[in-house]
Amino acid sequence: MSFSLPNYLESKRLKVEKGLMEVFKNPGDCPKVLWESMKYSIFAGGKRLRPVLCLASAEAVGLPEKSALRIACALELIHTYSLIHDDLPALDNDDYRRGRKTNHKVYGEAMAILAGDGLLTLAFQWLSDPSAYPTKCQKNLAKVNYELAWHAGYPGMVGGQVDDVISEKKRPNLAKVFSIHRRKTGALLISSTRLPALLAGADPKKVKALTEYGKAAGLAFQIVDDILNEVGDSKKLGKAAGSDRERGKMTYPAAIGLERSKKEVKLLTDKAVSALKVFGSKGQPLEALVRHMAERTY
Ligand code: IPE
Ligand code: IPE
Ligand code: MG
Ligand code: MG
Repeated sequence: MSFSLPNYLESKRLKVEKGLMEVFKNPGDCPKVLWESMKYSIFAGGKRLRPVLCLASAEAVGLPEKSALRIACALELIHTYSLIHDDLPALDNDDYRRGRKTNHKVYGEAMAILAGDGLLTLAFQWLSDPSAYPTKCQKNLAKVNYELAWHAGYPGMVGGQVDDVISEKKRPNLAKVFSIHRRKTGALLISSTRLPALLAGADPKKVKALTEYGKAAGLAFQIVDDILNEVGDSKKLGKAAGSDRERGKMTYPAAIGLERSKKEVKLLTDKAVSALKVFGSKGQPLEALVRHMAERTY
C-alpha cells in the first residue's frame, strides 16, 4: 500500500491526543483552576508536530510506541508551557494562540505563569516513571531526561528565548538569528527525533542521523514560522500575523529577506532528507513530515 501522509498524520495525532488524555486523567491534589488552565492550553488544537516526529523516529529505530508516547507527551507539555510563557505581556504579548484567547487572557498572568511551571514539571514527572518502560530501555532513561532538560533549558530553548527577547529592535544579523532559532525552536525539535533513539539504545549512526535531521528540520520550521508571520493569515494560523515586524523581532526575513529565507527552508529540508539515508524505506514518514513542515500554511 502506498504511503499517505494525511492518514499517517491523523493516526499519529489521535494517538498523541489519547496519550495526553491519559496524562490529564486524574487531577489528584492539583488546584482546580491550575488544572483547568493547563488543560485549556494543552487541548486547544495544536498541530502536535513534535510528538508526531517523536513517534515517527521511534518507528524508524524500533522503539515500542507505548514508550515513545511518554516522550511525545513530555515534549508537548514542554512546548505548550513555552507557548503560554512566550505569549505573556512581558514576552511577545499576544492575545491569540491556537485559535483561541491566550492563557493569560483567560486565567490571568499569575495563573498562566503557574500553568507553565506546572506543565514543565509534569513533563519530567511523566517521562521519568521507570515502570512505564520495558526493562531494556530503563537504563537509558536518565540520559533521556538529562538531554531533554538540556534542550529545554538555558543551553537550548530558554536561552534562545532570552536572546529573542533582548534582540528586539536590534539590527538583524544572520549569525544572531541562526543562534536564536537553533535554540528557541531547534533544540526541542532535536529532542523530538533524537530521544526515542537514545531510549531505544539505537545504533550511534542512527542517533546521529536523527540528530542531523532534527537540527535541519527544526531550523527550517522556525524560518517557516517567521515567513508565515510576514505573509500568512492570522485566522488560519490561529495567532496574530505581522507581530514580528511590529515588535522588531530578529527573524530570518528581517535579516535576509523573504526570498532568501524560502531558499534556506528548501536547502534545510533537503539536508534533513539526506540525513535519512541510513533508514532506507523506514525513513519515508520522516521525509514526508519534513517536506510537509516546509510547505505548511498554518
Ligand atoms: C509555534 O509552534 C511556536 C514555534 C516554536 C514556532 P507550532 O507551530 O508547532 O505550534 P502549535 O503547537 O501547532 O500550536
Ligand atoms: C516561539 O517563538 C518559541 C518558543 C515558544 C520557545 P515565536 O514567538 O516566534 O513563536 P510564535 O510565532 O509566537 O508561535
Ligand atoms: Mg517569541
Ligand atoms: Mg511568540
